[in-house]
Amino acid sequence: MPIDKICIVTPGEIENLDKKELVDKIAEAYMLFSEGEAVNPPRQVFWVKENWWGVMSASLPEKGVSVKIVNIIPDNPTRGLPTINGIVVYLDAETGSPLAVIDAPVLTAYRTAAGSMVSSRLLSPPNPAVLSVIGTGYQALIHLRFFKDIHLTLNTVKVYDVNKDRVNRFIMEAGKLFDRTEAVEDPCNAVKDADIVLLATTAKEPVIKGECLFGAVHVISIGVMGPEYRELDDETVRRAELIAVDSMEGVMREVGDLSIPERKGLISKEKIVEIGNLLVHSNAPRAGANGITVFKSVGIAVQDTAISDLLYKTACIK
Ligand SMILES: NC(=O)c1ccc[n+]([C@@H]2O[C@H](COP(=O)([O-])OP(=O)(O)OC[C@H]3O[C@@H](n4cnc5c(N)ncnc54)[C@H](O)[C@@H]3O)[C@@H](O)[C@H]2O)c1
Repeated sequence: MPIDKICIVTPGEIENLDKKELVDKIAEAYMLFSEGEAVNPPRQVFWVKENWWGVMSASLPEKGVSVKIVNIIPDNPTRGLPTINGIVVYLDAETGSPLAVIDAPVLTAYRTAAGSMVSSRLLSPPNPAVLSVIGTGYQALIHLRFFKDIHLTLNTVKVYDVNKDRVNRFIMEAGKLFDRTEAVEDPCNAVKDADIVLLATTAKEPVIKGECLFGAVHVISIGVMGPEYRELDDETVRRAELIAVDSMEGVMREVGDLSIPERKGLISKEKIVEIGNLLVHSNAPRAGANGITVFKSVGIAVQDTAISDLLYKTACIK
């Protein structure tokens, strides 16, 4: 493909995708990944000063190859720039021709939220009403739109962030989608009557305590980068009846949420399962779980491939 014929996919075209279809595509990608039917080499990760960089490549059967260069620049919000930046190139798997160039921040947010919904569809208590959001950045905002479309019984959103300006902005957006929204002064109160908890922070230490969680609750943790950092505390992980991850290898290697309690002997790896395996092998994984279920993700490249393919077919081939 001549370089001037490569399709440029805009953020608006990603935002127009049907969210339920995205969730289904990510569920399929998770299953192919866990069944060993995807090409998904470990991502190349490196740090430039305080900033995380990753190069993520993958291919799925009958689809092309995606290569994403992505970074996380925590200081960017103070410059008025997004925390996550980058670009995706989507290529034909047979000919190697570049087909499309896609905005990585928006694609990443949409595929991450879709991945979280795969878990919440499977592991939330039935008819969830109360959603708690800890960390109110861009990922959380996109998640909110998915929660609205995927969990029709949700009516209340409780919100906590260390940055009050961000909370206020988030509450305004949440108020457009949900009947009741509430900014809560401390994270424990924010989660104590939640059915679903979303942790989407750039914190380095756990942001909630397991002792603040009651009854049946599904905790989704997407944030944090670095093997010594974590959002989940020991108690949440220790009490969890089921812990699902997007990639066992990625989660244990790249973040501390599960590897730190495992090193302390608080959990064994047998308690942790890849969500793709859950989807393939179990019809009702929530059954019997009356307490905490957890989904921890770090993001896997097949998610980018699945969404790139969908975008190429919907936005580029007219
Ligand atoms: N799992 C995945 O696939 C995936 C994909 C993309 C991003 N992420 C991660 O998601 C996280 C959020 O990304 P973003 O783009 O929304 O970033 P962002 O900078 O827009 O938002 C992060 C928010 O977390 C808040 N925060 C930091 N420490 C906190 C604490 N202790 N308690 C409460 N709030 C706190 C910040 O004030 C900020 O509002 C990052 O850690 C990023 O690495 C994960």
